Amino acid sequence: MKSDHAKLALFAVGSVFAVVNSTVVANDLPSKISKTPDDVIFLEQGWDAEQRAAFYQTTQGSRMLPYDWFLNLEQAKGRQKLSAASNLRKMGFLVDERSDTNPDKLPVGFAKDVDPVKGDSIGLTCAACHTGQLKYNGSTVRIDGGQSLIDLEQLQNAILASLEATLADEQKFDRFSKKIIGKFASDAQRNDLMAKVIHYRDWWKARIERSKGITPHGPSRTDAFTIIANEVACYSLAIPENCAPAVAPTQFPFLWNTPDFDWVQYNSSVHSPLGRNVGEVTGVFAETEIRSDGSVGSSANINNLYDLEALLKKLHAPAWPEKIFGKIDTGLASQGEAIFADKCLSCHTEDPQPRTAPNKYGETFAKVNFETPLSVLQTDSTAALAFATRRALPGAFLPITNALGIVGADNKVPVASLLNISGSAIIKAFFTNGDLSRSPLEYLGYRESLSPTIAQLTTYKARPLNGVAFTAPYLHNGSVASLYELLLPAAERLAKFYVGSKQFDPVYLGFSTEREDHSVLLDTAALGNGNSGHEFGTDLSHDERMAVIEYIKTLQ
Ligand code: HEC
Ligand code: HEC
Repeated sequence: MKSDHAKLALFAVGSVFAVVNSTVVANDLPSKISKTPDDVIFLEQGWDAEQRAAFYQTTQGSRMLPYDWFLNLEQAKGRQKLSAASNLRKMGFLVDERSDTNPDKLPVGFAKDVDPVKGDSIGLTCAACHTGQLKYNGSTVRIDGGQSLIDLEQLQNAILASLEATLADEQKFDRFSKKIIGKFASDAQRNDLMAKVIHYRDWWKARIERSKGITPHGPSRTDAFTIIANEVACYSLAIPENCAPAVAPTQFPFLWNTPDFDWVQYNSSVHSPLGRNVGEVTGVFAETEIRSDGSVGSSANINNLYDLEALLKKLHAPAWPEKIFGKIDTGLASQGEAIFADKCLSCHTEDPQPRTAPNKYGETFAKVNFETPLSVLQTDSTAALAFATRRALPGAFLPITNALGIVGADNKVPVASLLNISGSAIIKAFFTNGDLSRSPLEYLGYRESLSPTIAQLTTYKARPLNGVAFTAPYLHNGSVASLYELLLPAAERLAKFYVGSKQFDPVYLGFSTEREDHSVLLDTAALGNGNSGHEFGTDLSHDERMAVIEYIKTLQ
């Protein structure tokens, strides 16, 4: 890698309002809590219903299918709709009641992307992957900005299967066609529709194929970095040999506090929130076109990405809802606090968070800790190393990469640089020709252009742990089922467990690991799934572990 690290700069540059009809229940108002399973309880997290709905429904420019297709396609088997709430819930999606602002009863994080030329599309927005929900004792508790238990692989496979079945079965196509172009459409119109369905079928097939996981991702994970890099370096640059299989799914992290972090992602690779968000949507079904002159067109909606990030700034972790999950034993928690100070606090800082020195715009950020090398941390190295060492041919970006002096003897460049170049080009095009509603610096969050070092990219960061009680399973790859298990020596942790259940265990802080409909077995022996390492505090007694857990419940 020689001196490449100096050039790894990632993302140098780098409105919709609605009401959800469920009740917001503060921490101490359980008398109003209905016990019906679908009646979701929202905890106080800094958002009102309007802000929550905006986070759930604001498009970021993601486009999976034409909007009316999503509503009208049938499931591959039978005549039930692909978009039926029961079908999407089985894949882990959260489907709230129909409302004025969500008339089509889209699941949390499904957004309508409106485009005057292309027409309306359905896409995913942040909330699809970053919204948790826990069930306990007849109550259902929503965790905004928490971790979704959605299974993206199941969704993608279901979309492809539905398109394939629509093409294979004349009656199915007929029913679909009547919904989309009407009963009286001409043969030419029907043929046109069929050609379009074939186009989407082929696109989905290739998309799934190019990022096929070696290890099932299952609910709550995706190999974000491999997929984004495949979309840029393989698909948009049109260089098939740049593709790489998804080897290292990572967990959807919780988002409170992240707008304030100096570096985000498990591997602390990104400093710019806008650059981060543009990179993310590029992997989450944005349409991206890399032209032969190296310029980049994208459906990424920069104004909305800015608004979504602004909403996150207002979000905080919920307090432990004692009336639902049980009272905190304050004596035990204070014993836990002392153990935490001794065994955990050196890496997992608490408020007031240590701050960076002011940058050239006078801004400071919460310092995340990436000081523990993998050789000490010993958690699964696959995700960090796959990204830090991946190289690819630059294609249309060759002139830029030549100018940067980063092309190696293998004619390749670090894939991180390609993501940086493409993200920067998308943002630059917006700053040049876009519909700006604030200054470029404001879009960039007054962040400087900073490059991660190889040392930080090749380990994982330790973040503040407020709200972590609600976000099992644990570690970057979700390989440890509960907080109690994380405090056991690695050899004693569950080697295999099912992921997908929303049944919460407020004692050990985890979800049920029993098999449920559509849950997926996580085998820690599989590539990228290792549950080793983080043997900090693993010499504690059972009572001491329970004390640490009690204390962690108090961290808001
Ligand atoms: C398809 C699922 C998905 C969508 C949609 C998505 N994310 Fe994420 N997000 C992830 C995954 C997976 C990671 C962890 C990737 C890694 O670091 O390996 C992540 C990481 C992050 C991080 C870093 C957190 C940390 O602790 O460092 C932030 C911040 C974030 N996402 C914000 C957003 C925002 C804002 C949006 C919408 C504009 C969004 N995400 C959309 C899956 C998603
Ligand atoms: C030497 C530094 C260090 C110490 C000490 C430490 N941790 Fe960690 N912790 C980390 C790092 C680094 C990670 C991320 C590892 C990964 O994802 O592979 C982490 C991850 C975690 C996570 C998972 C967070 C998530 O989003 O899944 C929890 C929970 C946690 N630590 C709790 C603790 C507790 C409790 C203690 C004390 C008993 C402790 N840690 C001590 C460095 C440390």
